[in-house]
Amino acid sequence: MSYLEAFNKSKSNANEFWLEEAKRLSWYKLPTKGYVEGEDGSSNWFSDGKLNMSYLCIDKHIEDGHGDQIAVIYDSAVRQKQVKYTFHELHEKVSKLAGGLQKLGVQKGDTVVIYMPMISHALFSMLACARIGAIHSVVFGGFAPDELASRIDDAKPKVIITASSGIEVDRLIAYKPMVDEAIEKANHKPEKVVIFNRKLGVETQQKNYDVDYEQLMHESESVEAIPVKADHPLYILYTSGTTGTPKGVVRDTGGYATALHFSMRTIYDAKPGEVFWAASDVGWVVGHSYIVYAPLLNRNTTIIYEGKPVRTPDAGSFWRVIQDHKVNVMFTAPTAFRAIKKEDPNGELVKKYDISSLKYQFLAGERCDAATLRWAEKMLQIPVIDHWWQTESGWPIVANFMGMEKFPVKEGSAGKSVPGYHVQVLGEHGEVLPKGEEGYLAIQKPLPPGFMPILWNAPERTKAAYYERFENYYFSGDGGYIDVDGYVYVTGRIDDVINVAGHRLSTAQLEEVVASHEAVAECAVIGMEDSLKGQLPLAFVVAKVGEEGYESYRLETEVVQLVRDIVGPVASLKTVLLVKRLPKTRSGKILRRTIRKIVDGKDYAIPSTIEEPMVISELIEALSIAKVGAFAKDKNTVVNSLKALTDSYYNIDSLAKYIDV
Ligand code: COA
Ligand code: AMP
Repeated sequence: MSYLEAFNKSKSNANEFWLEEAKRLSWYKLPTKGYVEGEDGSSNWFSDGKLNMSYLCIDKHIEDGHGDQIAVIYDSAVRQKQVKYTFHELHEKVSKLAGGLQKLGVQKGDTVVIYMPMISHALFSMLACARIGAIHSVVFGGFAPDELASRIDDAKPKVIITASSGIEVDRLIAYKPMVDEAIEKANHKPEKVVIFNRKLGVETQQKNYDVDYEQLMHESESVEAIPVKADHPLYILYTSGTTGTPKGVVRDTGGYATALHFSMRTIYDAKPGEVFWAASDVGWVVGHSYIVYAPLLNRNTTIIYEGKPVRTPDAGSFWRVIQDHKVNVMFTAPTAFRAIKKEDPNGELVKKYDISSLKYQFLAGERCDAATLRWAEKMLQIPVIDHWWQTESGWPIVANFMGMEKFPVKEGSAGKSVPGYHVQVLGEHGEVLPKGEEGYLAIQKPLPPGFMPILWNAPERTKAAYYERFENYYFSGDGGYIDVDGYVYVTGRIDDVINVAGHRLSTAQLEEVVASHEAVAECAVIGMEDSLKGQLPLAFVVAKVGEEGYESYRLETEVVQLVRDIVGPVASLKTVLLVKRLPKTRSGKILRRTIRKIVDGKDYAIPSTIEEPMVISELIEALSIAKVGAFAKDKNTVVNSLKALTDSYYNIDSLAKYIDV
């Protein structure tokens, strides 16, 4: 089927298209029903079907005679260790752990939080939950105990699975004490905490809820996969929204399995038996979909990589993994390539390894700049494919189709609408904008299988966050445009969400934490452009009356530490600027968009509603002195930045003092 045929059919007869796709999987009961909108507004697929994700990822391949194929490779660049598991071995690890969880009282529909580093046991834990119909919620290891606690309170897990420690380049991160702290802070108390002891020398305090992972495995019997309904939740994955409270994105089982299977064939062109590597983390949606479920569903060998693209030990580590495991299809975020390019601009390390097995390089998670795309193409000499998706979608919304129809790559575009996704660009009032015009990226209902049915226990928030802005559409939160050939260009978030090294963060949440510092009267956190991580958070703080004497470096240090303690190191907040005032409208709204443009050295206009225009020059002065954002680079930024202000209000001479930086 050509792309256009598939796309048109998915639009004109979505149910028939996806019911046909569903037949490619082994169901206990094949579905006959397609899309149904639930009373709570949820989107449900295949409601009369029954299946089990763990069975499809493991047992099915053994039954088909592939039990000796390598299913999972754990490659630790930080421990210089590799462990391979066949499908037979994976079966043993997962089915016994599933039995262990049942022994601990976990039943179908119960929730289990998984807080683990990039080790195989994280994947075993996810699949063990899926095997018995328990709903897992993986929390990224870079989040601090407070964040973990808020997820515990929302997901209410019966059990938490964790490890003694993780490794960040050259330092050990003690996970278990963070779990203990989170449990202490949370209102909900899980019954048991299963700890995989990595024996790396981290001392952990024994608690009465502790259960040793290996001991549990030793004492437990393997259990069979339990059939669940297609709309049974497989997992909850928390992601940042526009408020301080993360959103619990629910994923169903049947729609997700169908969509992932479809994507492996049509988008990634990953043939069963090939090696598929997503260099991400199981704590993110990329990890759920393309480290764990999609490759295993498709009988690919998947890689759990514990390490970074650089510094573990150098910028050649990705090429080493490709060579060692003969990776065929790879997926990572553009940041990883920017990090490698920075250390090895001429690709000397690429030449040291045999990467001839690699067919395609996929990139997603953030905007891919043209320089990074071109550099990757030059180094790898294979198609480098940008594609756009979100935690909510669970699989690509816009892509290029290596297994269906390969379109020429256009710089700056993530490709075309994936069959099942009817992406449109809408204007302020919901009108469809002409080709080439920038607006809000929205997806017409019905959303395809695999797409988030609803937010966990939050139907009203689901509606408010995604479906109320434009009737009959899902509102993505991203801006963009579509060209005459149907290529979609994602220009960035239009809300308070920022993207730091492919990690999604909420500036509203960061502001809540910064504002909780005792000396802070008010603050604004914005995402500023960064040549490595895409964006970095930058906090402007105004001190409380009586606290103005606070030395700015002390306040900065304390705020940075506060964010690390409460949100976690992943927030990457390193710069805090103490300012006298924040630019606001007369109604008191902080002009965040204007601030962002100034920081990035972009043209800006001063809104006519501004309360006090001179605050802008104070801001520019603070940025110039601290040499932050575009102001780290050259004097022209200051001149240009002041121009909007002087054009509107002042004579440039009166502002000359700011120009001499
Ligand atoms: N547990 C504990 N801490 C963690 C962590 C984890 N699982 N993951 C990250 N952190 C810490 C890091 O050590 C770092 O701490 P620091 O401020 O003390 O140095 C901080 O969180 C920020 O992490 P990160 O954004 O990853 O920055 P980095 O400097 O360690 O690495 C890159 C930079 C570019 C190499 C890294 O971001 C990367 O590999 N990105 C690839 C993109 C990616 O995987 N995106 C995921 C979505 S697809
Ligand atoms: P997450 O939910 O963490 O996957 O983040 C989703 C957000 O990342 C999207 O809403 C976009 O803002 C951004 N994003 C993901 N992929 C791309 C891409 N290929 N191009 C531009 N932005 C992207």
